[in-house]
Amino acid sequence: MKPDKLFTPFKIKDFTLNNRIGVAPMTRMSSSADSIPRQDVFDFLVRRAKNGASIVYTEAIVTDYESAQGYPGQARMLTQPQIDAWKPVVEKIQKAGAIAIMQMFHCGRMAWPEVNPANRSIAPSTITPKQNNPLTGEPYPVPEAMSRFDIEHVIAGFVETAKGAVEAGFDGIEIHGAHGYLINQFLSSYSNKRSDGYGGSVKNRYRFAHEVIQAVQKVIPEDRLLIVRISNWAIADMEVSLFGSKEEYQEIIRRFSGEPIDAISVSTYEYHQKAFGTDKNMAQLTREVTELPVMICGGIYDRASGEEALKDADIVLSGKSLLLNPNWVEDVRAGKVLSRYKSKDADIAYTSEPLP
Ligand SMILES: Cc1cc2nc3c(=O)[nH]c(=O)nc-3n(C[C@H](O)[C@H](O)[C@H](O)COP(=O)(O)O)c2cc1C
Repeated sequence: MKPDKLFTPFKIKDFTLNNRIGVAPMTRMSSSADSIPRQDVFDFLVRRAKNGASIVYTEAIVTDYESAQGYPGQARMLTQPQIDAWKPVVEKIQKAGAIAIMQMFHCGRMAWPEVNPANRSIAPSTITPKQNNPLTGEPYPVPEAMSRFDIEHVIAGFVETAKGAVEAGFDGIEIHGAHGYLINQFLSSYSNKRSDGYGGSVKNRYRFAHEVIQAVQKVIPEDRLLIVRISNWAIADMEVSLFGSKEEYQEIIRRFSGEPIDAISVSTYEYHQKAFGTDKNMAQLTREVTELPVMICGGIYDRASGEEALKDADIVLSGKSLLLNPNWVEDVRAGKVLSRYKSKDADIAYTSEPLP
């Protein structure tokens, strides 16, 4: 049998990955008031590295103490104790042969104000998501439109969090520009109705992402990775296409490609689903306009789907399969018949029950 592409090495900047399989970022909501995840959550990440994943992502780390937090129990990487808590985790992931990447996010209008120390919800414009907060069942609050001060303050939060990740020893940092959170809210004309330099044309809507990337890149040493995650779907507006057209999506990808980043991570519901009324999937549409390595995620659950996804991408990320099956990488290697997990199966991630 032809060797699987899934188990061939991949070089990204100065790192050589053992295979093309990574653990997707997954929020666990396990932190207490100290914003440090529970030990079993750390152990879970280390175990996935030991069991063969070549990339291990953290959950989305909240970038400030003001308005960035979207869910209870999220973690931060802003204080020395928070950084110190992650250091041994990163070391163990690296020792197991994988690279550790910290994902960071600001939730923007997807805020749950009670869990934000400053009780604020801020966004590009005063528009709430269509659907209720899935965790509370309540409508999201109407966000305040971000002032120039807010924009600079939020960018500073991304920068400080990136510094924390560098200090903790992470190999890479990902800016979460997907799933309808703050950066995505700026990119999409659906949630960005601003009339200043941050709204209107794609170039203007892209400006906030550009400023975040540029500011973060300055504090990351040359030997670390900088990655951006993007999607055309949003948590609380499932049915909405965040980008108006294929052309608009590709213009945004071209702009990301002009940034000092090392890969683009594309998040989908279904990796093979055709997008924007074309006969191409999201990975193909991304590939068409960028030379950067492409990661793809969404509905990859066995060897066949992993191999198929790799036709259009360099790396596959798995969420639910790697969350719930500790032996997933080996099962994929063995070509085992695997079943696909449902979203509700993953709800255990948010409980205090340790995962295998
Ligand atoms: C429990 C859980 C938490 C998640 N948290 C995040 C997150 O913090 N950041 C992120 O970008 N995506 C998050 N996701 C989405 C996953 O990274 C992934 O894109 C999604 O699960 C689809 O991949 P899958 O079909 O392999 O599960 C989460 C998914 C799950 C199941």
